[in-house]
Amino acid sequence: MRVLVTGGAGYVGSVSVERLVEAGHEVVVLDDLSTGHREAVPSVASLEVGSYGDADLVGRLLERARVDAILHCAARSLVGESVRDPARYYRDNVAGGIVLLDAARQADVERLVFSSTAAVYGEPATSPIPETAPLAPINPYGETKRDLEGALRFYGQAYGLRSVSLRYFNVAGATDRNGELHEPETHLIPNVLRAAETGQPITLYGDDYPTPDGTCIRDYIHVADLADAHLLALMATAAPDDEPAAVFNLGIGGGFSVREVVATAESVVGRPIPTTIGPRRVGDPAVLVAAPGQAQSRLGWSAARPSLEEMIGSAWDWRRRNLDPATGRRLG
Ligand SMILES: NC(=O)c1ccc[n+]([C@@H]2O[C@H](COP(=O)([O-])OP(=O)(O)OC[C@H]3O[C@@H](n4cnc5c(N)ncnc54)[C@H](O)[C@@H]3O)[C@@H](O)[C@H]2O)c1
Repeated sequence: MRVLVTGGAGYVGSVSVERLVEAGHEVVVLDDLSTGHREAVPSVASLEVGSYGDADLVGRLLERARVDAILHCAARSLVGESVRDPARYYRDNVAGGIVLLDAARQADVERLVFSSTAAVYGEPATSPIPETAPLAPINPYGETKRDLEGALRFYGQAYGLRSVSLRYFNVAGATDRNGELHEPETHLIPNVLRAAETGQPITLYGDDYPTPDGTCIRDYIHVADLADAHLLALMATAAPDDEPAAVFNLGIGGGFSVREVVATAESVVGRPIPTTIGPRRVGDPAVLVAAPGQAQSRLGWSAARPSLEEMIGSAWDWRRRNLDPATGRRLG
């Protein structure tokens, strides 16, 4: 299969490109390099630098590349930024997303897998969270992801687009080649590892939640497991389905607390990691855990790497090989 991967120079996208190439597929990456890294794209994949919201560029690219399917990983994905600048999120995630869907229609590309998020659930009342839980995002990031999921549903009914939206929980870990590097970094594991490198304490937001150790619990999924799920989801879009727009949660179905993450990171790096306790953040639920049963029964996917040691261990190995510990930037 020939696949267009938007955001293929980013964290999740680059690992998915690796997986697709390994499985013998041809890959075209479309990335504007706004948060991604050119070095993350392997030379066997072709890289087009530009935005999926640029109708002319995407139209020409799809005309030329003749892809069978699209894996749409690119997005704006910072919760805080989305609250400060919602226009950017509606413009890029929603309006840009529609440009991509319309270009796909124009080029007769009928299969798409979309990187959605647990943020579509907001502060859910149930745990673990099934796909049928009410969608009640509490920030523009989650809302704009929900909007594109909605568009996929109606494009499926009206135009025959077959899509799978995958609602990721917290992605973690690395492969030998690719890992997580964002600027700014808002995710816990890379920030804990950065604290181990610099000795600067990491702030834990709240230690008085109704959880066993008082810190928030999140469902972490290894980025390589996510890449496996992308491949299965892309395969699933090949067959006509009664439900043209499927939606699945991706998580391990269990969670780790912030303190467990720090303790595991300490054992991985072999030294104490300094922490300070800050106030709770607005909109941070105590527990966010996926019910991943649908992905298992309908896609045949389950997490093959559910251990926190493996997620943090692989992230640490990748950092040591690729980042300058003094600056946190890529070496070379
Ligand atoms: N990382 C997580 O824990 C997590 C959790 C839930 C959902 N997601 C979703 O997964 C996807 C990937 O996340 P990530 O952590 O890899 O982010 P990332 O920032 O590392 O990757 C996004 C990539 O998209 C590119 N990009 C952004 N806007 C673009 C545009 N308009 N045109 C072309 N390229 C553009 C960036 O340059 C970057 O390479 C996002 O859609 C995000 O919302 C991620």
